[in-house]
Amino acid sequence: MTMTITRDEFRAELHADENATYAAARERSAVLDHLIDEQAASDPSRFRMLTGDRPTGPLHVGHYLGSLRNRVRLQDKGVETFVLVADYQVITDRDVVGQIGHHVHELVVDYLAAGIDPERSTIFAHSAVPALNQLVLPFLSLTTDTELRRNPTVKDELALTGGRPLSGLLLTYPVHQAADILFCHARVVPVGRDQLPHVEQTRAIARRFNERYAAGHSVFTEPEVLLSDVPLLLGTDGQKMSKSRGNTINLRDSADETAARIRGARTDSERRITFGPKARPEVANLLTLAGLFLDESPESIAERVGNGGARQLKEVVTEAVNEGLRDHRARRAELARDPAFVSTVLRDGSARANEVAERTLATVRAVMGMTY
Ligand code: TRP
Repeated sequence: MTMTITRDEFRAELHADENATYAAARERSAVLDHLIDEQAASDPSRFRMLTGDRPTGPLHVGHYLGSLRNRVRLQDKGVETFVLVADYQVITDRDVVGQIGHHVHELVVDYLAAGIDPERSTIFAHSAVPALNQLVLPFLSLTTDTELRRNPTVKDELALTGGRPLSGLLLTYPVHQAADILFCHARVVPVGRDQLPHVEQTRAIARRFNERYAAGHSVFTEPEVLLSDVPLLLGTDGQKMSKSRGNTINLRDSADETAARIRGARTDSERRITFGPKARPEVANLLTLAGLFLDESPESIAERVGNGGARQLKEVVTEAVNEGLRDHRARRAELARDPAFVSTVLRDGSARANEVAERTLATVRAVMGMTY
């Protein structure tokens, strides 16, 4: 008897490992979230958190709901917070830095507007912290090229370069990311699913460093991922939300621009609004978006709108988004009047990150016998 499997089964088989890893990571994240709730206030450094963004353009509602809000939530629970402006990661997949200064400034503005408090959190940039970058060298010695070529994100990014040669920086950026996380001994890394392989790589580097260079002493602790439970949002055209597709609602957009964006969003021809992510992805996406801002289930919003159709749904969504971003936008406007303050935040944060990185690098050099 010949065994045949369908293409879907084949695909499921192919991704079974990834899905199992993801399911396990979700479970661990839930436990971690619980521990943070219980213990962060009394023992903040135990859950020190690091995360960051590439300054490549304006942040959108997906960033706000999926990561910014969560960072602020953790900060407010007393978790020690490091937020990285990953400027060296900009040049992993493009030849030019573009308007890097502008993007960095805008990113910091969005951090501050969202409620990241520079008194309690350290906001810093890669390029301003030399000791962090130096850690990449010993960490590279603990990593093989096979391992890096296997990294799913590196593979995907390579596919996106459309056959252009792969830069050494793109190949090694998971190692750089390990330095981002380990320089400050972060224990918690809140990221999306696509970043899981990097945190795995970071864990391997921490382990290997301790074994090979530190005679088994725990110089570095393996960090844990904190996965967001916010569902993935689509763009206004129903496709993956991305800057390059022009289908985003950006945090810096005005209320009117937002209304226009939502008015132009794709829906379908069925009048009655129901929540069906598989059958009606565009409508479901709008319901999800409103639900996240209103802290209400998409099903209940669907019920409220009912026969009101796409037009009424869009009114509800517009109101939810504009109301939800009102404070953020007001603070953005205030910060626009004080660009020097934004620069000072970044400079002070980078100075603080430098102190931490220098301490870690000194330990690493001492452990490796490199003190002359
Ligand atoms: N690669 C991340 C992204 O594209 C940004 C990032 C850089 C990061 N270094 C990090 C995230 C360290 C978490 C930890 O979103």
